[in-house]
Amino acid sequence: MRIGIVIGTGHGMDGTTGSLVRELLDRIGAHVDQVRTEIVGTDDLGLGPSCPACLACMTAGEQACPNYDRTAAARRLLDDSDLVVFATPVHSFHVSASMKRFVDHFAYLIHRPAHLGKPAVLLSTAAGAGHDAALGYLKTAVRRWGFHTVAQLGVNGPGLRKPAYRAKVDAALDEIAGTAVEAVTSGTEPTPTTADLIGFRVARLLVRNTTENGPVDEAYWRERGWFDAEWFTDTKVPFVANKIAALVEGRIRAGIEKGSADPYRG
Ligand SMILES: Cc1cc2nc3c(=O)[nH]c(=O)nc-3n(C[C@H](O)[C@H](O)[C@H](O)COP(=O)(O)O)c2cc1C
Repeated sequence: MRIGIVIGTGHGMDGTTGSLVRELLDRIGAHVDQVRTEIVGTDDLGLGPSCPACLACMTAGEQACPNYDRTAAARRLLDDSDLVVFATPVHSFHVSASMKRFVDHFAYLIHRPAHLGKPAVLLSTAAGAGHDAALGYLKTAVRRWGFHTVAQLGVNGPGLRKPAYRAKVDAALDEIAGTAVEAVTSGTEPTPTTADLIGFRVARLLVRNTTENGPVDEAYWRERGWFDAEWFTDTKVPFVANKIAALVEGRIRAGIEKGSADPYRG
């Protein structure tokens, strides 16, 4: 089993997040004869202060990103792994800045998802709070790339000194290791949810609306027959969820075309 690790901390595998990742890998190793792990530290990629925000990855292809060479190994890891573990410390109630920067460098995958059917596990560590936003964000982001999250775990580092908390974390890690191995071996793709189906349709709107800006997205969708599809794969699409998604798409399209959308007020 090939496991890719994307870890978003300057403390690497020696910090609290790295320790949690290692504990999960050890447990997965107990289920599987051969595990090959590859690790990308988002702090080690030299991606600069932020994504250059040129949008070249979307309009001209990912090779046009000024940081393409620095992200290429990470993209290979995403492509070649059977399972990807995304792990981040919570920084100010969110993912770390370097994890966010990593995600931004793969924004083109929202337009051109490449990891459909691939399971992900999400881990976060914190002093005490913020797992909900950090893990919720990661789940949404990698779903747009195609991954489906099979398990997530947020752990408070200081809590691990208390045996009762430690035992609960151990039990969760045991369970997650089993779930992850099962997800890889079964290869089962989850039925798309209403949110997934809305995501598919919004991505299609984005690609259609930016066709004149660059042919890359359009060619990607055309080659895969996605303009005429209801979902990225042949998986059966639930009827009601798809109807709701179509309604939402119509409202979003009208909002864009007629300016009828409301500004966000919370
Ligand atoms: C800049 C910064 C912001 C942080 N923000 C939070 C936070 O919002 N909530 C929290 O519980 N812990 C916060 N922490 C603590 C880290 O999430 C925690 O120590 C984490 O386990 C460190 O993981 P690492 O050793 O893998 O880097 C913060 C730490 C730093 C450096």
